[in-house]
Amino acid sequence: MDSVEVFKGIRFPGFMHTQESLRTACGFQFQDTDVLLVTFPKSGTTWMQQVLSLILCKGHLWPIHNVPNWERAPWLEQNSFVKLLGNLDPSQPRLLTSHLGAEALGPALLHSKARVVYMARNPKDVLVSFYYFHKLAKFLPDPSSFEDFVAEFLEGTGFFGSWFEHVKGWLGLEPDLNMLFVTYEELHQAPRATLQKLSDFLGYPLGPEEEDFVLEHCSFPFMSQSSVVNYSLVPKEVMDPSQGRFLRKGVMGDWKEHFSPEQNEKFNTVYQAKMGNLGLHLPWTMD
Ligand code: A3P
Repeated sequence: MDSVEVFKGIRFPGFMHTQESLRTACGFQFQDTDVLLVTFPKSGTTWMQQVLSLILCKGHLWPIHNVPNWERAPWLEQNSFVKLLGNLDPSQPRLLTSHLGAEALGPALLHSKARVVYMARNPKDVLVSFYYFHKLAKFLPDPSSFEDFVAEFLEGTGFFGSWFEHVKGWLGLEPDLNMLFVTYEELHQAPRATLQKLSDFLGYPLGPEEEDFVLEHCSFPFMSQSSVVNYSLVPKEVMDPSQGRFLRKGVMGDWKEHFSPEQNEKFNTVYQAKMGNLGLHLPWTMD
């Protein structure tokens, strides 16, 4: 199950990617009304898919309760994409998702007015979440050790490529795209203000009651119990529930429970070297 597809030097799980699906994504014709969510894996993709679906559904909850997130907001680069795209409601803006880097997907977006929501998360928490996800997801290899996983993450040679290049690449495109940069931490610490920022960006302003309703349906407790976003619909050969839950902890700073002082120091050195001044402006604490 853990076959590999290498595309533009980056490894993708062969279970849901092919050369053709990856190439098709890079040449995708966006419509100006499209909303594209871009993330490095484990940055809160599913959470933001839920928030954006809730904003766009204007209170019609049927899809929120009945349609899995991967059908509501299909991944451009996955082999199921063309079929799922055909099922999207033509009366709504299309909500799409991607983990591709800016180098791969940027050119297809450059001349479009499609709205891009880029969501980032403290890379130390991304790393921890990704480590557990490698155990849960049978389409990714089991990590040999946490130590090796840290080394691979810092080298940027793991699945989906380098976190550093992903964030820098997309931030570099911000002036040329109709893009909103948002973080997992913002949504955690200031959910209402972040929701307002997102709904304004989409052109779907919400009243206070609608905001309450969105916040309730994107909460960690609600999503943990919802089979259409907690991945419990996926067969155990794909995600093995005996290895943990997809909605695992949903907190900020879990890395502190996992990093040794040496790993933390090494991480900070690489972060500083790769991110430079940009790293200082990102809204998370590295200590
Ligand atoms: P943890 O493993 O740290 O718990 P992605 O969807 O990009 O794969 O990201 C998954 C991460 O987002 C997991 O992090 C998951 O628990 C967290 N997440 C999902 N929904 C969330 C929510 N409503 N609130 C907070 N975190 C959430």
